Amino acid sequence: MQEGKHRILMLLQTAWVLLVVFVLKGCAQNLPPAKYDGFVYDHHLVDSDSILIEAFFDPVCPDSRDAWPPLKKALQHYSPRVSVVVHLLPLPYHDNAFVSSRVLHIVNQLNTSATFPLLEWFFKNQEKYYNVQTRNLSRVAVANDIVNSVTEVVGNSYHSDLESGLNDRKTDLKTRVSFKRFKRGVCNAYFLS
Ligand SMILES: *[C@@H]1O[C@H](CO)[C@@H](O)[C@H](O)[C@H]1NC(C)=O
Ligand SMILES: *[C@@H]1O[C@H](CO)[C@@H](O)[C@H](O)[C@H]1NC(C)=O
Repeated sequence: MQEGKHRILMLLQTAWVLLVVFVLKGCAQNLPPAKYDGFVYDHHLVDSDSILIEAFFDPVCPDSRDAWPPLKKALQHYSPRVSVVVHLLPLPYHDNAFVSSRVLHIVNQLNTSATFPLLEWFFKNQEKYYNVQTRNLSRVAVANDIVNSVTEVVGNSYHSDLESGLNDRKTDLKTRVSFKRFKRGVCNAYFLS
């Protein structure tokens, strides 16, 4: 047990991106249904015979960025037998990961179809939000920059909703749920392996 906990901590420390694969008929029964958290890619419905890949991504992590294109390719190849659900996992050592993830949750609520285009936008532009590049900026300045840039991507009509969303505790809580799910996923994956 002690060693198990240690392994999990190691995983959390080293996992920049972690893909946990669950066959729905098997161990995923122990997990809450994916619809409670995460973004289903391409609106693929998950049926009982398909394999669900749960990917945990940090929008400002280079490894997540690099993992996404091959995962998308694999999905296109094996579709419809494979589905992908992306959970956002803002890593604690990426200063702007939480606000970026929060903005993604807000946009997902406003327009589900804009979620993956925006995730890809973050991947493409994430360098601007790395720790070093934003070291001299306040949290508010970074959040404003993200809101303004994201508005350009998703449309002007979203500006005020994005601003108010960042002040809404519900979006904060939603962003935390993914992280809690990740911890459970890792525990289950470890103890079942
Ligand atoms: C929702 O997002 C999609 C993809 O970005 C876009 O094509 C569509 O126009 C958006 N819908 C609204 C109502 O803004
Ligand atoms: C941050 O401020 C320091 C000291 O003024 C400066 O040397 C550094 O280049 C600045 N960094 C950025 C990314 O602007």
